Amino acid sequence: MNTESGAVLKAENLHKNYIQGDLEIPVLGGLNFELARAEQVAVVGRSGSGKSTLMHVLAGLDTPDKGSVLVDGVDLASADNDTRARVRSHSMGFVYQNHHLLPEFSALENVAMPLRIDGNDRPTAEDNAAHLLSEVGLKNRLGHLPHQLSGGERQRVAVARALAGDPKIILADEPTGNLDAETAAQVIELMHTMSAEHGCAFLVVTHDPSALPSFSRVVRLADGILT
Ligand SMILES: Nc1ncnc2c1ncn2[C@@H]1O[C@H](COP(=O)(O)OP(=O)(O)OP(=O)(O)O)[C@@H](O)[C@H]1O
Ligand SMILES: [Mg+2]
Repeated sequence: MNTESGAVLKAENLHKNYIQGDLEIPVLGGLNFELARAEQVAVVGRSGSGKSTLMHVLAGLDTPDKGSVLVDGVDLASADNDTRARVRSHSMGFVYQNHHLLPEFSALENVAMPLRIDGNDRPTAEDNAAHLLSEVGLKNRLGHLPHQLSGGERQRVAVARALAGDPKIILADEPTGNLDAETAAQVIELMHTMSAEHGCAFLVVTHDPSALPSFSRVVRLADGILT
């Protein structure tokens, strides 16, 4: 289910301050944001501007002091833990800077894992996982453990895993931060391709200016709001 505006994610009037002892750090100050179906948006902003905080709030991992985050007709800012977990696993996928693959499991098992947790039997989960890995160019790496893969290949596995379960939204916080420029460009291009083929929106935090022209929209976080 989409929001009334047709957005797959809609954040309104987000406020978030961190309190550290006597210090109050304002991070989000009335931020609004909408992500349309299959839209590919880059988030930029200087270090410390609150990009990761924003991603955590949009992912339902952190709660804002004020405001709402609508996904699938649910406000993640006010939903209980079970509801947030359900929306996260059904509608959202995540790609991290440090792949976060389980080290003792193969590429195939890592991608199949969310499908197994979602209740699919092993052959179905592994069939889907193999298909996704083939789509990201890794059909000959199914049995490789994360440490047997290159950095770029690990991020491809992470993209495949994020797409398992067919989410409408993928959130990625500096997914290419640990890669060289050429590999980073390939991973960003892969995200665009997968976004188009799966009809999935991507919201990507990046510090890499050369990646920006490929996005349909670039938003800048400064002074607690996006422009
Ligand atoms: N758990 C926390 N407790 C207190 N302050 C925090 C916490 N998390 C982040 N901050 C502060 O909030 C601000 C925003 O941090 P955040 O990590 O969101 O920035 P960022 O834009 O992602 O930076 P970078 O580009 O370096 O990753 C920073 O000033 C940071 O020190
Ligand atoms: Mg960050």
